[in-house]
Amino acid sequence: MCGIVGYTGPREAGPILIEGLRRLEYRGYDSAGIALVDEEGVLFVEKKAGKLGNLTTALAERTPHAAMGLAHTRWATHGRPNDLNAHPHGDCTGDITVIHNGIIENFRELRDGLEARGHRLVSETDTEALAHLVEEAYEGDLADAVRAALRRVEGAYAIVVMHRAERGRLVGARQDVPLVVGRNGEESFIASDVAAVLAHTNRIIFLEEGDVADVRPTGVLITDVEGVVRERPETLIDWSPEVAEKGGYEHFMLKEIHEQPTALRQALAGRVGRDERVHVPEIEALLPVLRTITRIELVACGTASYAAQVGAAALEAWTGLPARVTVGSEFRYSPPPLDARTLVIAVTQSGETADTIAPTRLARERGCPIIAVTNTVGSAITREAAAVLFLQAGPEIAVAASKTFVTQVTTLVILAAAIGRLRGSMSDEQELELGRALHALPDAAQRALDANAPRAEGLARRYVNSRGFMFVGRGATYPAALEGALKLKEISYVHAEGYPAGELKHGPISLLDADCPLVAIATRSSTYDKLISNVMEGRARDARVIAVATEGDTHIERYADDVAWVPETHEAISSVLAIIPLQLFAYHMAIARGTDVDQPRNLAKSVTVE
Ligand code: F6R
Repeated sequence: MCGIVGYTGPREAGPILIEGLRRLEYRGYDSAGIALVDEEGVLFVEKKAGKLGNLTTALAERTPHAAMGLAHTRWATHGRPNDLNAHPHGDCTGDITVIHNGIIENFRELRDGLEARGHRLVSETDTEALAHLVEEAYEGDLADAVRAALRRVEGAYAIVVMHRAERGRLVGARQDVPLVVGRNGEESFIASDVAAVLAHTNRIIFLEEGDVADVRPTGVLITDVEGVVRERPETLIDWSPEVAEKGGYEHFMLKEIHEQPTALRQALAGRVGRDERVHVPEIEALLPVLRTITRIELVACGTASYAAQVGAAALEAWTGLPARVTVGSEFRYSPPPLDARTLVIAVTQSGETADTIAPTRLARERGCPIIAVTNTVGSAITREAAAVLFLQAGPEIAVAASKTFVTQVTTLVILAAAIGRLRGSMSDEQELELGRALHALPDAAQRALDANAPRAEGLARRYVNSRGFMFVGRGATYPAALEGALKLKEISYVHAEGYPAGELKHGPISLLDADCPLVAIATRSSTYDKLISNVMEGRARDARVIAVATEGDTHIERYADDVAWVPETHEAISSVLAIIPLQLFAYHMAIARGTDVDQPRNLAKSVTVE
């Protein structure tokens, strides 16, 4: 969740690092800092609590000329978000500087030991202990010292370290937290995220667990913590830097909502052909296992868990096997029965969510075949899985997920169909019906955007003073209700709940009144009539009703104050279209309430701690 960027090469490091931080700001944003070493070996450090702007103001005209440096944006885990706790952190000698993302689990013990040996630690962070451990181990070679220090560390980390006397040299290491190296001619980069360096290079090396990277302007040597050399391939990333920028929209979230038709097209690429059949080459190696599984467990958190609910319903429908979703934080400590005949599907856009990775690891240890569904190439989850399906949605910068939700749903439904076909439990007609709908989905998403984008602002204005919202759906539309409520609460800070519509009368209906509207996902489905009865119950309590309905539904306007129209589609993927007006509604509610849309309070894009 913190952002890391380092540079070594012939150019001015300061502006490159600040620009890198700007692209990483979404990863962690309660403070920011930079360290630079100039030609004379003099170390310059500046760090500031608050947004990146505070740091850039403090730097003003003072940034020294330097060809090497590192920079960080922080999301606090140990110690308050203040100037002192901001990274970089240094050792007693002032020679060594460290930035870090993650948590050092044995930091109390390390810190007590360091203090007992006479080190003076000035911040409340776990990171500072690392700088002093490197200092203790330093005998003239920074990479050796970092490796020795890391052998004493337990926890999850991505770090970058520099020594002011070793100019041109940055040493990075990763354990359970992402870190990449970028190469370009006579310069090298190291960063927590590809987006931080894409403006300079698309030649990326994804570090793996336990890697230590000795980075110099002209190359990188990767070893493990014992110093044994590891070969890591260089990957050419085809995301242009512009893809990671706002592209003319006011916020990343709005841009990403509008990117959904493209993201869906990419997610379908290679998976639903002109023949309107589903193809998932990624699971080929697992075919014998998939024929013998008896149960399916999906593990995910937040938005990904709602997408997983759609996937579970499709898996049950087309494989006839029991399939259920458990959120990662529950799965880890109360795991379901797991064995070699239990397929586990881990769904995580970042691929780095600790609450999802730990249970997946547990399932792997118990012999379960694992399939990962993620947006992030090179992420930790990909190393846990026997097969990986990438969302192919492109980078998502806004903290609130949008295009990754719709591509998760789509990818999971395709996977469900592929397994159903393989096992002979999904018919030819069923596959073709789904294939046709998937094929049409990107255009349908565009229509849903065109219909709702111009109206969403007005809709939000009409409801902006509501006390709270109740989102309801039934069957296939229930996950969209959950996701719609989550979107609204996380970015506009208005209370919202998602419920199966039939549950209203069992308690939550008491919340409904003129100040608590009902948002009903009433797209055409097998439970449409039942849902309408539930909407009537809400109206009888004076609740205003916003309905998301299928184009051509001539009844719905009788029951709703406002209707958001979406095109007709296959019921299994209806949440892809239903969520679009709800994302737009949440976005404009946030704008109307003046909140920080892309970086809502208390949240981070990638939650790499438990
Ligand atoms: C909400 C949101 C979160 C994430 C959750 C899991 O908009 O983005 O609820 O869905 O933290 O993240 P990933 O998918 O990266 O595992």
